[in-house]
Amino acid sequence: MNLYDLIMKRRSVRNYKDQEIPENIVNELLDAANNAPSGGNIQPISVIVVQEAERRAKLSEMVGNQPWVKNAPLSLIFCIDLWRIKKWAKMCDVDFKGENALNHFLVAYADLMCSAQNVVILAESHNLGSVYIGTILDTIDQAREYFKIPDLVLPMMVLSVGYPKSIPKNVPKLKREVIAHREIYRELSDEEIKKAFEEKYGNFEDNVKKYMERIYIEAVEAEKQEKPDWADLDSVKKELVKLNIKNTAQFLFKYRYPSDEMVKMNEGFIRALKNAGFEFF
Ligand SMILES: Cc1cc2nc3c(=O)[nH]c(=O)nc-3n(C[C@H](O)[C@H](O)[C@H](O)COP(=O)(O)O)c2cc1C
Repeated sequence: MNLYDLIMKRRSVRNYKDQEIPENIVNELLDAANNAPSGGNIQPISVIVVQEAERRAKLSEMVGNQPWVKNAPLSLIFCIDLWRIKKWAKMCDVDFKGENALNHFLVAYADLMCSAQNVVILAESHNLGSVYIGTILDTIDQAREYFKIPDLVLPMMVLSVGYPKSIPKNVPKLKREVIAHREIYRELSDEEIKKAFEEKYGNFEDNVKKYMERIYIEAVEAEKQEKPDWADLDSVKKELVKLNIKNTAQFLFKYRYPSDEMVKMNEGFIRALKNAGFEFF
């Protein structure tokens, strides 16, 4: 399969077979992570390889009871790591103040995602599936304690990997013309924006189950696997009625990512950064 087709067929996988990934493939995935582009080639990242059942279960709990994190044979915790660089700089008699420089932090996060996406693509080529788990950002302190992560190291992203039992279909995306701007930015009209999202998500009143599969596949998948509280679809539907949710934007920003809560979580993230020795402002 050519690379375009491989990338176009990739989906986030949340349903895994109980099948180990051979050690040589795990090592290849780690090589792919290590060989990613890196700003200044400084490589301010570390990857924690989680395979033991007990740790997988704990990690799954930590990221908000997402069953696939426990069920996947492998999860990689991608960390921004300035600890190693700071030590090295100190031994070499030079100041390194990345923990106070937002630019260092942003480049480190970009590096980290380049590494993680290398793994996603290589995994795909080995017929493995994967899914990013961003909710680790809400429990950085807890993850740092459990995985014995030192100051100046931040777990920023989890990637769970395994052999797919099933692969989602029909994951909606915006059209190419909506995200691509030729030569200069073209502001879409209100009508064009409305149409772009309608074409992406479909109509809220259509078949609810099908609609949920498009907009809230995590809950549909989780309910099939372990029914954690957050994924009880009947309660979700009741809550949507209670909140008088009428369209996908309201679903996203009133129910799934409520604006005020996101701002509160932001405070928690800044606190976690401070706890790990980072301070930018
Ligand atoms: C930054 C980021 C965070 C994500 N966090 C989660 C997560 O916590 N749980 C989950 O099941 N999927 C998570 N995903 C996967 C997205 O839900 C998925 O990429 C999206 O629905 C599009 O589907 P696709 O990957 O099949 O194209 C995350 C993806 C990204 C890029």
